[in-house]
Amino acid sequence: MTAKKITVPLLKEMKARKERIAALTAYDYVFGTLLDEAGIEIILVGDSCAMVVSGHENTLSLTMDEAVYHCRAVRRAVSRALLVADMPFLSFQISVEEALRNAGRFFKEADVDAVKIEGGALMAETVRRCVEAGMPVMGHLGLRPQSVKQLGGFALQANSQEDAHHLLDDALELERAGAFSLVLEKIPAEVARQVTNKLAIPTIGIGAGPHCDGQILVTHDVLGMFEKFQPKFVRRYAEMAGDIKTACKKYIDDVKANAFPNKDESYL
Ligand code: KIV
Repeated sequence: MTAKKITVPLLKEMKARKERIAALTAYDYVFGTLLDEAGIEIILVGDSCAMVVSGHENTLSLTMDEAVYHCRAVRRAVSRALLVADMPFLSFQISVEEALRNAGRFFKEADVDAVKIEGGALMAETVRRCVEAGMPVMGHLGLRPQSVKQLGGFALQANSQEDAHHLLDDALELERAGAFSLVLEKIPAEVARQVTNKLAIPTIGIGAGPHCDGQILVTHDVLGMFEKFQPKFVRRYAEMAGDIKTACKKYIDDVKANAFPNKDESYL
């Protein structure tokens, strides 16, 4: 693991060296600290925040103010990883000007290193203008959770030859527009492999198989903290929900039995 600050050019070099990129989400100071200390390369303050932190059914409700608040908290913790802010639903789709203004808020108010924008070729002009203004952009293709109502759910995307070609065209267009990397969500592994081979910028997969240049997951899923549902593509590296409940039950029992606090935990 390099101790060097992760930058946009460094991520492109990692792809050229075939060095895999590890990314996770964080929404607060504690998780920002833990992930940065663990050596993750990219921390995304994802709009998944609306689901795992705020309990909504999808990501659509996250506001700009909420997203900026969470980015500021994570920023205070993170010194090495590249910090990416997910642009909330309708913060970038209305006009290029509005997208620039909202992307700018993340850089000015939360000092992020990059923003992420969902969408294909239609977003290319927005990506180009952000990049020209000095704001690095990560694209997001395949399953785009902000379009869940249009897509009718969280189903596998690019599952026909036609859709796969379309996705590849979108990816090339976003690369030409200056995106520094692309998230590929819930698409067949073979489609992700072809896209990854065609692009000079790194692809970061989530439910997109092993051929991407990097992988991202929602940290609450990885740690087994979010029990509402578990997509097939998640690997759980801990069972924190059970551990947390067990610890809390022990605390409750101790309080009820007057076994906490003891002498050492009191000011005598
Ligand atoms: O919001 C999110 O967490 C994402 C993923 C890529 C993990 O967009």
